[in-house]
Amino acid sequence: MKVYLDNASTTKVSKEVYEAMKPYFEEEFGNPSSLHNKGISNRKVVNSSRKKIASMFNCNHKEIHFTSCGTESINWALKGLAFSNNAKGEIITTKVEHHATLHTVQFLEKMGYIIHYLDVDKEGFIDIKQLSTLINDNTLVVSVLMANNEIGTIQNMEEISKICFDASTYLHVDAVQVACHKELDLSELNADLVSFSGHKFNAPKGIGILYIKHGTKIENLLHGGQQEQDHRAGTENVPYIVGITKALEVGLRQIGNYEKTLDSYSKFFIDELDNAGIEYILNGPQIGEHRLPGNINLSFKDLEGSDITYYLNKYGIYVSTGSACDSESIEPSHVLQAIKVPFDYIEASLRFSIGVDTTFDEVKYASEKLIEIINELK
Ligand SMILES: Cc1ncc(COP(=O)(O)O)c(C=O)c1O
Repeated sequence: MKVYLDNASTTKVSKEVYEAMKPYFEEEFGNPSSLHNKGISNRKVVNSSRKKIASMFNCNHKEIHFTSCGTESINWALKGLAFSNNAKGEIITTKVEHHATLHTVQFLEKMGYIIHYLDVDKEGFIDIKQLSTLINDNTLVVSVLMANNEIGTIQNMEEISKICFDASTYLHVDAVQVACHKELDLSELNADLVSFSGHKFNAPKGIGILYIKHGTKIENLLHGGQQEQDHRAGTENVPYIVGITKALEVGLRQIGNYEKTLDSYSKFFIDELDNAGIEYILNGPQIGEHRLPGNINLSFKDLEGSDITYYLNKYGIYVSTGSACDSESIEPSHVLQAIKVPFDYIEASLRFSIGVDTTFDEVKYASEKLIEIINELK
């Protein structure tokens, strides 16, 4: 049996998405900027995709911009604000962001920005008081990861966006893990910029979205042609734009069931470990409302994550470790360090991310094999 439990890394392009994209690789291959019929039909499809996405997210279609990935959206949001608002010199983010944000703010730090990193509690929730204390007239933007890709923590965005609004500070939200996993209404979220990535919800890798609220003062990141309402140059990737639109339609249609099913699978998985008397810590919040559906991040006592994944892989079970490896060292992830996972547990931290295609039998098989492996390694 092959069990793919790494859906937070990437997902499979669904059949419906693949079928919707196909004509735009074949007979409908035109460039949307061309003035003949093959171009015009592609222009129409880009425009209608933008409108469909805007209606799904409850915003204006002019606020939706297609990018090449989540990383580009985040870079554009933060650098674009920095390049066009040089009167303000501080940025607030958190210690548990994805590297797309952390490395972008480190770049801006080299350009002179002062960066503040908010602490989180042991479940990964931002210190809201610290945000209120740090935010000031010189804060350009607060950038927050809405749902943590490693430990699944879903932040209290209502409180965060109110603080930013009251301080007249831009708010950028990394919602890469959120779309099609949790309900999302952009007018309720009240952020100025929101980043998305298609490959986290069954669209292909290489397509993202940046929502830019009307009135936001932001410089372009890519210069060249006049695509994307003159805000992002580069010939539009029409098949992938069609793909991300279809993936959102399908994903949002099934979201209610998806959440319930994935939470029940996660609970079953954890219960099986409890019944077998395995010593573990569940990193992040309890399974339910404040945790991404399907995210199970576990640390095991006195073991090595690479040993466990080696054997899981042998059994055809694919998961992620909570370590960033380079040639010389294996460093526990910054997220696990920020939530202070105890030192005798942190080396063996694994993320199991269940997806829309995962079956109960697969979850059962994975839990059985995990228990077997942990007992063997002990
Ligand atoms: C929370 C989060 N932000 C940003 C990214 C980057 O997205 P992409 O892979 O589309 O560049 C990822 C991808 O892992 C992510 O999980």
